[in-house]
Amino acid sequence: MNILFIGDIVGRPGREMVRKGLRGLIERYDVDLVIANAENSANGFGVTKEIGDTLLEWGVDVMTSGNHIWDKKEAIDYIATEPRLLRPANYPAGVPGRGSYVAQTGDGRAVGVINAMGRVFMLNIDDPFQVVLKEIEAIRHRTRVIIVDFHAEATSEKMAMGWHLDGKVTAVFGTHTHVQTADERILPNGTAYLTDTGMTGPHDSIIGMEREPSLARFLNAMPSRFEPATGNPRLNGVVVEADDKTGRASRVTRLSFSERELVDMAAAPKGAPLRTTVP
Ligand SMILES: [Fe+2]
Ligand SMILES: [Fe+2]
Repeated sequence: MNILFIGDIVGRPGREMVRKGLRGLIERYDVDLVIANAENSANGFGVTKEIGDTLLEWGVDVMTSGNHIWDKKEAIDYIATEPRLLRPANYPAGVPGRGSYVAQTGDGRAVGVINAMGRVFMLNIDDPFQVVLKEIEAIRHRTRVIIVDFHAEATSEKMAMGWHLDGKVTAVFGTHTHVQTADERILPNGTAYLTDTGMTGPHDSIIGMEREPSLARFLNAMPSRFEPATGNPRLNGVVVEADDKTGRASRVTRLSFSERELVDMAAAPKGAPLRTTVP
């Protein structure tokens, strides 16, 4: 089966890329299940019920998140009623929501999704390396295919998680930095790995936000109000092909598409050659 993972969706420009491009991507890559990180989908900060429900309607099957999950207060109520919205599993006990979910493909095959968050340069929450093993144990009797979104800042911590889980899950995909890395590979025991899947949103920006206030914060160290940028929207993500029976990854393909490319893809007949541009 093929699973599409979409990197952090930032604001309306990011959502528009999903709206315009998802159907074409599903068709082109024969996608059975779609996972998307939605932590920045509501104006760059958090997620609302209206936006989450819309993403699900457009074809996203499971939404992951990260440190921005609580930015919109209504996410506390939404996550309690929507099991397809995950928050990092290693938040302390008692925090609303869940860190894993077992989804079904259209033809009834199960896919596990686990969300965890790193601690290097981030909140000092519970140990993600231990918690993720417990989450795998809790769902592995239901499926061998398990995708982990490891939301973390440090490349080293993400890579460590990849090796920690090699042979235990189908894929470990990093999120949070909003900058796609070019190190996709399949580790020796069959786990697909990519340090960061990148950002689905405006790329003429500073990690999705308007350049001026973001740059100003570095120049004068004073607070400034961040709004999502609009220029050069791109969809970033990754597709992993997995063996249903063993859960091993057989292929991993990194994606980065402009709006034009997505629109062309949606219009092109299946199998037509891809025309891509430099970001
Ligand atoms: Fe993010
Ligand atoms: Fe984040």
